Amino acid sequence: MSSRFDQIFNRENTNAVAYDGYKEYLFDASESFPQMQYSQKDLIPMWVADMQFAAPPCVVDAMKDRLQHPLFGYTMNINEDLYKAFHQWCKNKYDWSFSSEEMQVSLGVIPALIGLVEYICGPNDKVLAFTPSYAFFKHATHRVDREFVTSKLVENQNEYTINFEDLETKARDPKVKLLLLCHPHNPIGRVWTVEELKKIGEICFRNDVKIVSDEIHCDLLRHGVKHMPLAKIFPGNKNIITCMAVSKTFNLAGLMVATVIIPDPDLRRIWQKKHYALVNPISLAAAVGVYQHGSEWLDELKDYLDENFKFLEQFLNTHLPKTKFKIPQATYLAWVDFTAYFAEKTHLTKFFLSEAGVILEGSEMFIENGGLRVRLNLACPRSQIQTALERMRKVIP
Ligand SMILES: Cc1ncc(COP(=O)(O)O)c(C=O)c1O
Repeated sequence: MSSRFDQIFNRENTNAVAYDGYKEYLFDASESFPQMQYSQKDLIPMWVADMQFAAPPCVVDAMKDRLQHPLFGYTMNINEDLYKAFHQWCKNKYDWSFSSEEMQVSLGVIPALIGLVEYICGPNDKVLAFTPSYAFFKHATHRVDREFVTSKLVENQNEYTINFEDLETKARDPKVKLLLLCHPHNPIGRVWTVEELKKIGEICFRNDVKIVSDEIHCDLLRHGVKHMPLAKIFPGNKNIITCMAVSKTFNLAGLMVATVIIPDPDLRRIWQKKHYALVNPISLAAAVGVYQHGSEWLDELKDYLDENFKFLEQFLNTHLPKTKFKIPQATYLAWVDFTAYFAEKTHLTKFFLSEAGVILEGSEMFIENGGLRVRLNLACPRSQIQTALERMRKVIP
């Protein structure tokens, strides 16, 4: 039976970063750009974390409704509509509550990260994160001239765990003021367990390290997997800031709207003084609409993604048996180890782009500790995944 997610969209001339912005993002201006075996129109984008799927119809309906009122002046999150819709979403999905005053709005999680690093850390302070890491954790830190330090996750038989001794050592440095936690983790796709989250929190809080828990991927779970917001484990704790957004869950990254839960009134005052408070009125309406009506669509999406992951697993087992891969608990991102097939230090982003016409992100995009892995975005029609994998298989040495 065909699915709405099988539909292939042509994104030419839509200013889509996934199609037309990859050179700027993936390659330095100084770097030599690879010779391509495929023309631009035949490239398959499986890199940046947005989806090749249409957004839920309820989003379009919410935006259309808002368009009926033809005034689009300066807009802020003033009434309770977003709070009510988002809070109900969190109650339903995670049995997690917070007050309306704690919820702030940002033009995306990235601007929130940049802001929070600056608001929490002084000029000589340091920010800690686990690696491999979502690259913007480092970029956000450097954007405001703070130092970025890392704790390497430990991989064993495709299972990643936290080196808690190392975390404690790093957290003990009095200059480390903030942990940027990715939960679920991009790129490895783990949902941290309650025990792990408790330990992370205990280590950080006894060393006066605050935690920004970036939970942007929390709705994108494999069926049967549960997400536990870090803040729910530490009720009343003022040192946890939680970021969530409609951007990943419903493929609305271009609308640029995210929610940030800041329980500490002092930090909130700084945020309110410094953080740009305006939002796009259409985006605001879309976020409200999708939190109210998007749950069924999300269930359908999760079914489709579960099958995409099974498809990938089967393909790798059959055709590339020396790869190492485990279906992640969350995200639509597959983290595949190609160590057995390539010489050390091969630039896999360049290789697969130039030889197979597949735009993906090699581990060099995730700061460190990635080995010869690639991150493949599976939020696309299965037929596209199949074509990409067949092309990749053909060129693998
Ligand atoms: C962990 C994480 N945080 C933040 C973002 C970006 O968030 P936004 O688009 O809301 O700025 C991404 C996008 O890939 C992500 O993976």
